[in-house]
Amino acid sequence: MYKILPMKFNIRITKTQNSRLSEVDFNNIPFGRVFSDHMFVVDYSEGEWKDPQIIPFGHFSIHPAAMALHYGQAIFEGMKASKSVDGAPLFLRPEMHAQRINASARRMCMPEIPEDLFVEALHNLVALDSAWIPPQEGSALYIRPYMFANDEFIGVKPSQNYKFVIFTGPVGPYYPKPVSLIAEEEYVRCAVRGGTGDAKVAGNYAASLLPARKANEKGYDQVMWLDSDEFKYVQEVGTMNIFFVIDGEVITPELNGGILAGITRDSIITILRDKGYTVTERAISVDELIEAHDAGKLQEVFGTGTAAVVAHVSKMSIRGRDLELPAMEEREVGVLAKREIDGLRAGTIADTHNWIVPVKALETVSI
Ligand code: COI
Repeated sequence: MYKILPMKFNIRITKTQNSRLSEVDFNNIPFGRVFSDHMFVVDYSEGEWKDPQIIPFGHFSIHPAAMALHYGQAIFEGMKASKSVDGAPLFLRPEMHAQRINASARRMCMPEIPEDLFVEALHNLVALDSAWIPPQEGSALYIRPYMFANDEFIGVKPSQNYKFVIFTGPVGPYYPKPVSLIAEEEYVRCAVRGGTGDAKVAGNYAASLLPARKANEKGYDQVMWLDSDEFKYVQEVGTMNIFFVIDGEVITPELNGGILAGITRDSIITILRDKGYTVTERAISVDELIEAHDAGKLQEVFGTGTAAVVAHVSKMSIRGRDLELPAMEEREVGVLAKREIDGLRAGTIADTHNWIVPVKALETVSI
């Protein structure tokens, strides 16, 4: 057993006796398949979060009638820890993720997790498994907090029991190459007006799978979602928010309740504005994109997300037309955005907005 630095919550820590760290090839990490040694778990019952713990990573049992399994009351976050060039582990804007999971919880009628418990759990978990943070450029420790309904019950109502978990795993780049997109003109995700598009809800991603598979069968990497009323305005991509550069102006769809309020999206908007770019958050139609492309004014398209970071788009299919986008050598904005955010994480670019939070050291005293 390990003791943590005195903090507000008494998170019990049980350290693994069998670290798997030596089995990992950090130069060849498949995204999402390698998991670190420990995980954080806390259960909610009788109106409170009880007995937060960090335990060895492993299976837990779940009742066959657990409500998340049939009614889908399940939310998650995606964030990363990385190491600065001098080896110090750090987070980028962790409190934003705590706030966003609670916004998702409110939408799904789930209890909020105290922000300071969320952040404290992150510090302890990542400090304990800091050797799992890959040092390679473009790699990071991916962090997956999630919560699900755990009542053993049949009947549609909010569960009264929940499990909140955080596990982590080293990852390389989500998209090692520029991606191709196809504008989806048949399906919508759950992002209809008043829907759950702005929450990080498991079901949104489940709803994206069939269209994404069809997109893959047609030779495209991902779906670009359009609005559900007219199939005209761009919303986001299945795995990231999206930005366009048209005639020098950077445009990204405005947060209209149907789009996930990406934290990387927010960081990139701020970074680009700091650099003097005009960044406009507004509705952007596929007609405008076709027109800009045909006039030679569509200079860049890129996506942003925790996993994707900044992913360049090589081509977009809209209304049956493939719009080829300028070569990488001609791109400036997305390249700069990626360099800046990578530099912040590496500690080589000044953190003027106080986004970087160093991981607090864990006191490794056996108890
Ligand atoms: C993330 O960007 O972290 C997500 O949760 C989306 C998924 C593509 C991994």
